[in-house]
Amino acid sequence: MATTVKAKFKCSSERISQVPKDTLKDIAFIGRSNVGKSSLVNMLTGINGLAKVSGTPGKTRLINHFLINESWYLVDLPGYGYARVSKSTRGEFSKLITDYVLKCDKLHFLFVLVDSRLEPQKIDLRFIEMLGENGIPFGIIFTKADKLSQAQLNRNIKSYSQRLAEQWEELPPIFISSSEKRTGREEILAFIEECLTEC
Ligand code: GTP
Ligand code: MG
Repeated sequence: MATTVKAKFKCSSERISQVPKDTLKDIAFIGRSNVGKSSLVNMLTGINGLAKVSGTPGKTRLINHFLINESWYLVDLPGYGYARVSKSTRGEFSKLITDYVLKCDKLHFLFVLVDSRLEPQKIDLRFIEMLGENGIPFGIIFTKADKLSQAQLNRNIKSYSQRLAEQWEELPPIFISSSEKRTGREEILAFIEECLTEC
């Protein structure tokens, strides 16, 4: 049976000084624009429209906190790699993203979403490298799995893992998802529960 979660929108922040001041932990979702972060938030919570989804990249501009089961926050972050996000954006990753990921004490675990259909993208590899250099705990979620055959999906994940193994002694936790088919929901929710209590 599908796990039910209680979810409600808490707040949107344009600076990290605005994130909730309580002691609840954040589990956040990041990745390139359009990879499916907001869709995954809706799929995990079971509430369509909770996070705003769009076919146009750059939809999520703020840090969005959703309170889950009154006990932790699921955080939908803006995407990176979208050229026209903001004129003040310096470098590859906006200040909002780097401030949150590198400086926000609430962040407990970060899921990096990558499109399961694509070859490893340089920008994702650089983002992951930055996480490693800064000791940020993370896992990878391969999204849009419904768009590939099982064989192609397996091939892509294998080659991505091999690429990561060139840089990492130990691979991060890896998940496969489809927000269309609700694939990966139970595994990701179970992992989050474990991560909140054990790490
Ligand atoms: P930004 O907020 O712009 O960074 O994008 P995002 O990563 O939040 O992506 P979003 O969830 O808005 O989804 C982008 C597009 O991909 C939308 O058209 C979604 O319907 C589609 N999409 C997301 N997840 C899936 C999936 O699992 N399968 C399929 N087929 N389409 C998906
Ligand atoms: Mg979004």
